[in-house]
Amino acid sequence: MSRSVKLIALVALCAAGALAPSAAKAQLKPEELVKMRQGLMVAQKSQFGPMGAVAKGEAQMSDATVMQAQNLANVAKLLPPTFSQETSGVSGSKAKKEIWQKQDEFKKAAESLLVETAKLAEVAQKKDPAAFKTQYAAAANACKNCHDQFREK
Ligand code: HEC
Repeated sequence: MSRSVKLIALVALCAAGALAPSAAKAQLKPEELVKMRQGLMVAQKSQFGPMGAVAKGEAQMSDATVMQAQNLANVAKLLPPTFSQETSGVSGSKAKKEIWQKQDEFKKAAESLLVETAKLAEVAQKKDPAAFKTQYAAAANACKNCHDQFREK
């Protein structure tokens, strides 16, 4: 193949999204993926904490609540590629091996985070405290369910 034909083929492949799934993995080492995962988890906590006070009725719903819920949903979207198999056994990680042994269960737990945090972002916009409280609990449950099964104590 000539150089320009190769280039055209590569551009076509990229446009088709064929290279997209491995992009994050190719750029980051397993140790970096673990750091990214742990950092994203802490970022989730940072947005989830203040929303907890609202859910408990200790703080008013505000524009900040809407933003926190949106941030949480967006951070959740960055998590799945950080659970790539090559991160199994990286030192300093509390991810259990079961993540890669029970892929069906793990995918369900990961999917439920995406679904419940997206719903929370939607509900937050309505500024209805009762609906927010219910959906906050569903999202918290998604965190807990995965931690109980797939995170070392
Ligand atoms: C699909 C599974 C899963 C879901 C859902 C999940 N977590 Fe995690 N979480 C983990 C795993 C696994 C670890 C350990 C990561 C590691 O050490 O490699 C972790 C670690 C953490 C940590 C510790 C990070 C550190 O290293 O300091 C916090 C905080 C955390 N999660 C918060 C949350 C919050 C808040 C939610 C929900 C909004 C959530 N997680 C949802 C699997 C999950």
